[in-house]
Amino acid sequence: MNKYFSFALGVASIGLVACQQAPTQKCCNDKMSDADIEARIDTILPQLSIEEKAAMCHAQSKFSTPGVARLGIPELWWSDGPHGVRAEINWNDWGYASWNNDSCTAFPALSALAATFNPDLAYIYGVALGEESRYRKKNVILGPGVNIYRTPLNGRNFEYMGEDPFLASTLVVPYIHGVQSTGTATSVKHYALNNQEEDRMGVNVQVSERALRELYLPAFKAAIVDGKAWTIMGSYNRYNNQHCCHNEILLMDILKKEWGFDGVVVSDWGGAHDTKEAARFGLDVEMGSFTNGLDAQMGNFGWDDYNLARPYINAIKKGELPESDLNDKARRILRLNFRTNNNWGPGRMTCEAHMKTAHDIAREAVTLLKNEGNILPLDPAKQMKIVVIGENATRTLVKAGGSSELKPKYEIAPLDGIKKQFPNADIQYATGYTSGPAFYGFAPAPKEDQKKLKAEAVELAKSADVVIYVGGLNKNYQQDCEGGDRQSYELPFGQDALIDAIAEVNKNIVVVLASGNAYSMPWLDKVNAVVQSWYLGSEAGNVIAEVLDGTINPSGKLPFSFPVKLADSAPHSFNDPMVYPGVDHQQIYKEDILVGYRWHDTKGIKPLFPFGFGLSYTTFDVKDIKVSNSANEIKVAANIANTGAVCGAEVLQVYVGKVDSKVSRAQKELKGFLKIMVDKGNSAAINISVPVESLKFFNEETHSWELEKGKYMVYVGTSSADILETVEIEL
Ligand code: GLC
Repeated sequence: MNKYFSFALGVASIGLVACQQAPTQKCCNDKMSDADIEARIDTILPQLSIEEKAAMCHAQSKFSTPGVARLGIPELWWSDGPHGVRAEINWNDWGYASWNNDSCTAFPALSALAATFNPDLAYIYGVALGEESRYRKKNVILGPGVNIYRTPLNGRNFEYMGEDPFLASTLVVPYIHGVQSTGTATSVKHYALNNQEEDRMGVNVQVSERALRELYLPAFKAAIVDGKAWTIMGSYNRYNNQHCCHNEILLMDILKKEWGFDGVVVSDWGGAHDTKEAARFGLDVEMGSFTNGLDAQMGNFGWDDYNLARPYINAIKKGELPESDLNDKARRILRLNFRTNNNWGPGRMTCEAHMKTAHDIAREAVTLLKNEGNILPLDPAKQMKIVVIGENATRTLVKAGGSSELKPKYEIAPLDGIKKQFPNADIQYATGYTSGPAFYGFAPAPKEDQKKLKAEAVELAKSADVVIYVGGLNKNYQQDCEGGDRQSYELPFGQDALIDAIAEVNKNIVVVLASGNAYSMPWLDKVNAVVQSWYLGSEAGNVIAEVLDGTINPSGKLPFSFPVKLADSAPHSFNDPMVYPGVDHQQIYKEDILVGYRWHDTKGIKPLFPFGFGLSYTTFDVKDIKVSNSANEIKVAANIANTGAVCGAEVLQVYVGKVDSKVSRAQKELKGFLKIMVDKGNSAAINISVPVESLKFFNEETHSWELEKGKYMVYVGTSSADILETVEIEL
């Protein structure tokens, strides 16, 4: 992007120093106001030919769209991804350009951000990511992803913010504000109902309007209405038998009319399939299309064969399609151009401040699930033999996973972090298992290797004072990776048997598991501690080691439930391929509004670990819980005391359920939460406000939100299952 970009009003643009003062243009050192931007669009638009307007509506390369050179309107550059600025991709194929100046800060995955339950961190995350995007001269960063976690098999859950729409909505807004405060546009994705990778390009999701409105759209609505996202990305799948990238209900009726979206709808790469629909049903920018008759995406340009290119121009010129739609698209794209080319600073890249931001988010994401006998934290002063086992102790978890993969300036591996944090320990390492190379279509290591690796690890474990097992999922295909779903709920690569075998020879085992998804834990009773470590990015190894030695007191909470077994999760309980993964490109969300803890609570199916759960190295006593309400607001007040030996943070959560509702409802839904840090021996007052407005359900007869009068139960607790107080109120 041209930092010294100054703007033309039909005159040539000029450099920074002597920017000419066009009639409505303030000096280029100032930012254009919204009114300036609209005025400038009004001046420019009539000057553009149909060809110039249509050109802006589709790719000119893998990740850029044209400007208008003769008027000094710059090109727009788009880049993945939600966790950091992706390395440069070639002009016309998916290969990396092998630049040596595009290493980035790898921030924690958004599932890890969700585990922090901390909106303040979402904001600083966005600012740092926006600054890195600017420095890499990108107008749009292709994130955040907020698709609801429906099945633990979805390969991209690690990129999203969990199973609850209120949690995702609360975190996505500050993330967008942070990114866009730097002049970088966000692209909230994938709108909508992209809840699996299996058949993502073809599946038509059939879901009730109520579940759509109450579960799958809220985070997108918050991103647009409160977050003011400047772009949104259509998803590959279909809804109402129409591709989401040009979907009349989702894009025209809901997004642009009801929510008043004034930004740009961009297709997912290859998500556009039809000129007429793309023209009429809200697609503004078409990217990555598999052009007709030409070699789809590799080695051939075909840009003019895009749906919104020559075919669109011809249709307008023949009078088959109105030019008014094109003018609206061009207006939105110019608005995006002027919003992002508006004398913003140059940003910055991989600076200490960004690495600290990555560390700060990671430290509040790590979630302690078990700590029997307080084996953790380990004492770094102690002379002990630590045996570290597991491939994830040394494997990169940033450089794979699909479009969110990154080329980090650095990525601290857990083994290196542990060595640094425990200088007095005798630390030995055994891989224990191997998962093969992290690319599409990999083949796991041959069986004999696995046997040998397992035997070596178990042998080493015998002499350890403590075993630190570092495993989990990884970014291999059909793990936590774009383009495919997991094929089973268990930990892969023989890890369950390996952990069992280690437990046979050593009784002091700490298990650290990286993932963006839930998994079964058949060995749970055989280990002392379980740490869910997510995908933490550049600072992963430092943060994991600092949790293990107590420098960090973990405060993460689960943003999704951990069912005991797959059949305990909503879509898999039906044991019906139509529910997951779909049959012949058709799928029915039969569980409707009951996803995640809503399903567990309402069906009485106890999860292994519940939504919102996470332990601490300290203890808290939540007392004096008081619930009151007016016609417009429910107020929850409490006092939280830190009754343990170290400073720590707790997340007080407020759930609400309707008594005797006239419609089927979940037992309770998250409607408020607050994370608070309390020093040892101290206590703090907490106040959480829940707008009554947020208790409405979506009435499918009237197609509108409706507040039921009558009794409600307010549940106050520290997880969806750890309810400390239940109070009945009347509205
Ligand atoms: C991918 C992903 C999307 C990404 C885009 C560009 O297929 O679905 O999230 O931003 O294409 O890489």
